[in-house]
Amino acid sequence: MRIVFVASECVPFAKTGGLADVVGALAPELAKMGHEVTVYLPLYACVRRQLPDKLTYAVRSITIPFQHYKRKVGIVDGGKRAGVQYYFVDCPEFFDREALYGTAAGDYPDNAERFALFCRAVLEASKKLGVPQVFHVHDWQAALIPVYLRTVYASSRLLRRAGVVLTIHNAAYQGAFPPATTEQLLFPWEIFTMDKVEQFDKFNFLKGGMVYADMLTTVSRKYAQEIQTPEFGEGLDGVLRGRTADLRGILNGVDYAEWNPATDRKLAANYSPENLAGKALCRADLLDAFGLEMVEDSTPVIGIVSRLVVQKGFDLVEQVAGRLSELNVAVVALGAGEPSYEKFFRDWAFWNKANVAVRIGYDNALAHKIEAGADMFLMPSLYEPCGLNQIYSLKYGTVPVVRATGGLDDTIEEWNPQQGTGTGFKFKGLRAEGLWAAIERALTVFEDKAGWKRLMLNGMAQDYGWAQSAREYAAVYEEVAQRRA
Ligand code: ADP
Ligand code: GLC
Repeated sequence: MRIVFVASECVPFAKTGGLADVVGALAPELAKMGHEVTVYLPLYACVRRQLPDKLTYAVRSITIPFQHYKRKVGIVDGGKRAGVQYYFVDCPEFFDREALYGTAAGDYPDNAERFALFCRAVLEASKKLGVPQVFHVHDWQAALIPVYLRTVYASSRLLRRAGVVLTIHNAAYQGAFPPATTEQLLFPWEIFTMDKVEQFDKFNFLKGGMVYADMLTTVSRKYAQEIQTPEFGEGLDGVLRGRTADLRGILNGVDYAEWNPATDRKLAANYSPENLAGKALCRADLLDAFGLEMVEDSTPVIGIVSRLVVQKGFDLVEQVAGRLSELNVAVVALGAGEPSYEKFFRDWAFWNKANVAVRIGYDNALAHKIEAGADMFLMPSLYEPCGLNQIYSLKYGTVPVVRATGGLDDTIEEWNPQQGTGTGFKFKGLRAEGLWAAIERALTVFEDKAGWKRLMLNGMAQDYGWAQSAREYAAVYEEVAQRRA
């Protein structure tokens, strides 16, 4: 099949979170299965730096109209990698910026226009470079593809037959803008209604995608159920219940070419289930990198790698931090995000210099070192559509301690000391006591060397490679293509 991916992130070009890992790994997996796969991304400043000085244009000039102005767009040919064709949407006024979505001062004020232009440019470019059987669009930034396709472009002979699959990686990020966005983006006012793009008097990109796409997917089975409830639906649960027959939960895979302790070149040493010796070296290297050389071998190291946002549940960590640093435990954290959480981690480290250390920022190599060098990985997310770090942790023999929600619940099984089964520790509910109890269970098992080793090996034996999930996506594309034919 011919599939076009439309996404705002993709490794190795541009990343703020798991979306980039998923797009960057799923596309080549589908190509490996024999599908013809193209990925469109905005040409951000960080992408530009990875391309040769002289750009090759696949399409020179496309004009994208808005209500009061026009923008000229070029489509840069990024060539083929691992069987996947890459195209970058070049519009310097919109994308030649340091960040993808905004700065510390907030989101870029023109994000509606930026990602509307991205979507329209992909549709226009497809007319020239090839219309796929299915557009696979990701999150709110690409969610206008089906909206344009079924409204402004409804009579396009070339585009009409193309189907659309929308993957919701996170229902909380919706792209909601003032009502006037409707005419600014040249949509007819008829679509600004509750059953289409309007949500609480905003023009809502994600809702539009949910309404107009042929099929919807999200990134774990549990989250597919959760988002149909008011607790997790972020106001869109009603729309999703209305589309329940077209909604699938497909668990993310992980790219073991990047995330495997046996081959990972970012580590001080490699290791595998057969020979775990390297993990101790990785641990020493990690403690060194964080200035915690004095931590003793008997002290468990808890790792954290995360965007520092409400979603990730650090309010619960704040509530147990005082008690935790009184125990024989070390904590290493890497993250960036909301200033209040950054401050919490800085303060926690400042008052506990001997056993708590934090690095504020984004650092891929350090993320690998934490996955390898820590004994436990903490992820108490309030909600988690899939989550990748806990799956990486399994492979690295770093035992996850997680809240039982979304993909965390689907991928981590509670340790059962009698049977020797399970891969981690889970807690339910929103109270810090639940998290505390899970940490205590983990610390207790850590004392039992044989039990702990069994637990590590159980995790390392898990296989969350992309093959199975890619087959499930291919089945969804087939279904959509058949409906459209
Ligand atoms: P989300 O997409 O909600 O942030 P995921 O667990 O799906 O959560 O994916 C997060 C990805 O981003 C992982 O690959 C993780 O290693 C990476 N990541 C998050 N924060 C950082 C950071 N500060 N430095 C390096 N990598 C990070
Ligand atoms: C989102 C979710 C995360 C998921 C990722 C990739 O950022 O927060 O849980 O793993 O997308 O699908």
